[in-house]
Amino acid sequence: MNFLNIPTVDLDDQNHSLVLLDQTLLPNETVVLRLQNRQDIFEAIQKLRVRGAPAIGVAAAIALYLAVKNGTFSCHESFFRALSETKAYYSAARPTAVNLFWALDRMENTAKNAADKPIAEIIRLLREEALLIRDQDIESCKKIGENGLTLLSPGMGILTHCNAGRLAAVRYGTATAPIYLGEERGYHFHVYADETRPLLQGARLTAYELTQSGIDVTLLCDNMASYAMQKGLIDAVLVGCDRVALNGDTANKIGTSGVAVLAQYYHIPFYVCAPYSTVDFSCPDGGHIPVEQRSADEVTQLWYEKPMAPSGISVLNPAFDVTPHSLITAFITDRGVIRPPFEVHFKEKL
Ligand code: MRU
Repeated sequence: MNFLNIPTVDLDDQNHSLVLLDQTLLPNETVVLRLQNRQDIFEAIQKLRVRGAPAIGVAAAIALYLAVKNGTFSCHESFFRALSETKAYYSAARPTAVNLFWALDRMENTAKNAADKPIAEIIRLLREEALLIRDQDIESCKKIGENGLTLLSPGMGILTHCNAGRLAAVRYGTATAPIYLGEERGYHFHVYADETRPLLQGARLTAYELTQSGIDVTLLCDNMASYAMQKGLIDAVLVGCDRVALNGDTANKIGTSGVAVLAQYYHIPFYVCAPYSTVDFSCPDGGHIPVEQRSADEVTQLWYEKPMAPSGISVLNPAFDVTPHSLITAFITDRGVIRPPFEVHFKEKL
């Protein structure tokens, strides 16, 4: 099975399934999951079988459609009750990526706007909306690629953190979109992928998807970024994000804010790539972004044959950190490149 032909997330309507490429097994095994029941879907989101902000949003939208598709509802009231209960259930899977809530809200609003129609028609509209969210993700990533390329030159060294690639979206990815597009146009970037402790999305996923696509990529441990910058290997940093506050403070994979601090020290531009929908207008600043805390064993033993820390050690394992807006050179979005003051320019693009 060629990895590049497998969608990260999709709908198999005939078999009533959410289709996912299981990212916990990459790069060693390529396994496609077809999930039907909600506990399995919830588990897949929580355990990062599907992960990355845009991909989580698309998965949740498809899951919400599947939840009501074959239901039997005696009346509109019971239909809407089931919809809102399922929405609340999936909302609890992961707290930080706003795309999850944004996609579920979009689905619920679609249903509410059609509340005067027969239930079968509302379900048909929910299917359409889920597929639209999927297809719009592909389109917005393409635009991020175009807009990102206006800031980059051939042969540049680009550092990225975590995986904001095609595996984190439906296709192209966000931070990788300018890289893929640049490759098609002969830019031949040299990509440096932080391994991204503790879950190694950079090593397992970014390094994998870029090599599979024939892109020049070098893997480094997270604590080597300063070395690479000092040696002049890095001309720009491109990262994705899970939620952007109105003032521009940005939550992304743990370690991102450290990379931003280093980039500022070495005068390297630090770009955050995201669909405009990742801006959370209800969130004034980074202090209001909920940061997911994950279990200790991800740090102490997940990738090791034997635990590599004393048993019972107390562990800090935040899955994300918030990069202050002052460290961000610009946001590369599907609505253009957005520079400071971010709040003003975010509002202009509404
Ligand atoms: O915990 P993960 O793997 O879901 O975290 C993913 C990231 O932090 C990505 O950088 C972010 O979601 C952007 S994906 C286009």
